[in-house]
Amino acid sequence: MTCALPYANGPCHIGHLRTYVPADVYVRSLKKLGYKDILFICGSDTHGTPILLEAEKQGIHPRELIEKYHRHFIEVFEKLNIFFDHFGHTDEELNHQMSREIVLKIHEKGYIYPKKLKLPYCPKCKRFLPDRYIVGLCPYCKTEARGDECDQGCGRYLNPWELIDPKCSICGSTPEFKETTHYFFKLSAFHGFLEEYLKKMKGTSIAKNYAIKWLKAGLKDWCITRDLPWGVKFPIDERLVLYVWVDAPIGYITFTKDYCDRKGIDWKEYWKNNAKIIHFIGGDIVYHHCIFWPALLKAADMNLPYSVVASGMVKVEDKVFSKTRGYVIWVEEDYLDKGLDPDCLRYYMISYTRHVKDLNFSWKIYEALVNNELVGTLGNFAYRVLLFTYRNYKEVPEAKLREGVTSLIKGSIDKIIEGLDRYEFNVITTQFMALANYGNKLFQKEQPWTTVKENPEKCKETLYNCLQLLKAIAILMEPVMPIKAEKLWKQLGYDTPVKDVHFEEALKPIEPGRKLGKPKPLFKKVSSEKIQELIKEFEKRVQR
Ligand code: 2FM
Ligand code: ZN
Repeated sequence: MTCALPYANGPCHIGHLRTYVPADVYVRSLKKLGYKDILFICGSDTHGTPILLEAEKQGIHPRELIEKYHRHFIEVFEKLNIFFDHFGHTDEELNHQMSREIVLKIHEKGYIYPKKLKLPYCPKCKRFLPDRYIVGLCPYCKTEARGDECDQGCGRYLNPWELIDPKCSICGSTPEFKETTHYFFKLSAFHGFLEEYLKKMKGTSIAKNYAIKWLKAGLKDWCITRDLPWGVKFPIDERLVLYVWVDAPIGYITFTKDYCDRKGIDWKEYWKNNAKIIHFIGGDIVYHHCIFWPALLKAADMNLPYSVVASGMVKVEDKVFSKTRGYVIWVEEDYLDKGLDPDCLRYYMISYTRHVKDLNFSWKIYEALVNNELVGTLGNFAYRVLLFTYRNYKEVPEAKLREGVTSLIKGSIDKIIEGLDRYEFNVITTQFMALANYGNKLFQKEQPWTTVKENPEKCKETLYNCLQLLKAIAILMEPVMPIKAEKLWKQLGYDTPVKDVHFEEALKPIEPGRKLGKPKPLFKKVSSEKIQELIKEFEKRVQR
């Protein structure tokens, strides 16, 4: 399992989480289904013009920039309990080596050739203008685009020389065109292969449908070198570096190898044999993962991605996500540093919608999710059951587990498994919340506070079945809210970590006599003043 590598050129934002939270939830869920040999890999993307432009802007060396943000991502992931087995970065020596070896192999097989090109060159900045160093109009949809991608319009991958009315993105000059030699990967030779491959490739509709559509439109050979001072040296012609989209995905392999070497495992088990490689990515990099990458892997005789799980887009307060226009939530500055709960953010990212739909982050919706769903339904159910049982019995009372409760839990597990098969992670939150809802109603209807005196057996039965529901909820919610799940699990009197407990354990009757932990509310309400404050800050940023 991999997640798209974040560019180490700025802080973690809500857009990143659209990939990392569901991926982490998926890994945790697979473990709960009993899969043991899962390797969860990610790392910082440290090359290319996104890095160079930002380093230039900050007036620092790219190395300083990438070190800063590499550390930042590690810290934020830790705070959000997103646990990669390995988080490397693409400027590691091992990745330079791996990238060069793979490129040499592909070259030996005849899939790389040189070509003379007339490329945009800025007479004022005195340099060639690759990728994001150049802006202009997309030749396909005529929207403002960057040299590497039509990011605001049709989403196509572009070459820097294709833009209409190009300008240098640093100084605004109109570029001249100068002749130079670059190297191309024979992508067009892989048309037939990709056609067959994409039929079998698993993943979300976004990944498959776009890839098939683009393939039908035809494939152009792919320029894989750049004239830049920073990157992995192109082994055939050291005047150039590799295009970042070559050494970045190769990072997936390098990080696997790095991890395996340290554990004494053969990395080829994953990349040369039949491991299932699953890539979690944002919807904007489908072309790279479903067209370029499988072709590169095929050319290098490597294992191909089994599945590409591309997500829908992120909106902030109903507007298209945009860092420059302020429609962004910075995970550390705007969320964690405000003392807000990491698990509540994970819950938002998963419960809001299906994985392929657009996710809108809004503070008002956040307020409702936390106060109504997490505090009002889930937290309330857990606290009232645990407090009442603790006060009256201190332990799980002896009683009969009802058929209806077991089959309800069984139904939830089945639906979660089906949901995971379709990469629909919100099924998990829907299901554990349904159990909490059911439990609340049961508790309310059977009034244990009355039966405790009038009919203690009945009271115990109510509580016992509610506790069983809580046991199931703790297990089912762990992939989404690992910290809260662990707290609930401890209050139920367990001492082994809930992260290691399989889904099917939720069906095993909770043991009568188990000593309960001291009950404490799981969630805190977020006040409307706090939400107003957050909204104000957000609005200030948008106006700036
Ligand atoms: O689009 C991005 O943010 C890239 N840094 C993703 C790279 S993923 C990979 F293939 F390395
Ligand atoms: Zn376009």
